[in-house]
Amino acid sequence: MKIIAVMNQKGGIGKTMTAASIAYILGQEQEKKVLVIDADQQGNISMLYGAYDPEGRGLPDLLENHEREGGTYTTSELIQTTPYDRIDIIPCNGYLMNTNMYLMKTEEGNQILRLAEDLEDVAAAYDYCVIDCGLIMDMTVMNALVAADLVIVPVKLGGFEIEAADNMDEQLESIRKFNDRIRMKVLITMRQKNKTTLQVEEWLKENSGHDCFQTVIRRSVVAEKSTIAHVPLLKFSKGCIASQDYRAVTYELLRDLEGGQDE
Ligand SMILES: Nc1ncnc2c1ncn2[C@@H]1O[C@H](COP(=O)(O)OP(=O)(O)OP(=O)(O)O)[C@@H](O)[C@H]1O
Ligand SMILES: [Mg+2]
Repeated sequence: MKIIAVMNQKGGIGKTMTAASIAYILGQEQEKKVLVIDADQQGNISMLYGAYDPEGRGLPDLLENHEREGGTYTTSELIQTTPYDRIDIIPCNGYLMNTNMYLMKTEEGNQILRLAEDLEDVAAAYDYCVIDCGLIMDMTVMNALVAADLVIVPVKLGGFEIEAADNMDEQLESIRKFNDRIRMKVLITMRQKNKTTLQVEEWLKENSGHDCFQTVIRRSVVAEKSTIAHVPLLKFSKGCIASQDYRAVTYELLRDLEGGQDE
């Protein structure tokens, strides 16, 4: 099982859109077995996959209350099916805030290793795990990065998102003490074509020193509508420009992680 986290410390830049779309294409179009993990207390990707319950079980229970820590649950018991074949989810809700406080306070030495350990139990059952992170480098997000093979860093051109990507690069150095596999790859999202964005895009790809997806996600009104409808973009519209772009990104991802392309 390859683990992909989607993270940048910026709000509203397409993290959830990216995680949800890639998971959908992997599961529904590429017929991979996919486990989605919602690592954001807002529960947005849980909403898109029909699994949001403000009182329900999910990632907070996995991190706080796993059998291995003397708790109640195994990893499998916290995985739910979604309406989409081959795509399962560990959902999340506002309780994650307490989980972050709990993990900070606990004396156990494995506060940021827990998710990696928990996922080992189900690694044989899935090809991919896609983690939608919240926008703060909290204990949960650190757990996600310690578990991940690759971090996709969405960057929306026009703000301080590039600085945030640089920041992420630095923070991954600390994470490497616990996970030396981790790599990051920048994905430009919500691109509107004008001279400035094209220049910044070229600089990012050629000169920034960041590994970037060649594919860029274009801004699309359909993408916004799919979020309002609480439906994964690719289910909402198979063929809109953002769906086409996410398909191309997923092919790049498969070439990168599997060394082959399965279009
Ligand atoms: N390619 C796109 N074109 C147009 N709108 C988009 C695109 N991608 C995402 N959006 C919209 O931008 C908004 C924010 O996207 P999303 O929720 O994925 O961001 P996020 O980084 O996960 O936000 P948060 O930090 O709150 O978790 C949503 O309304 C979404 O529909
Ligand atoms: Mg989000």
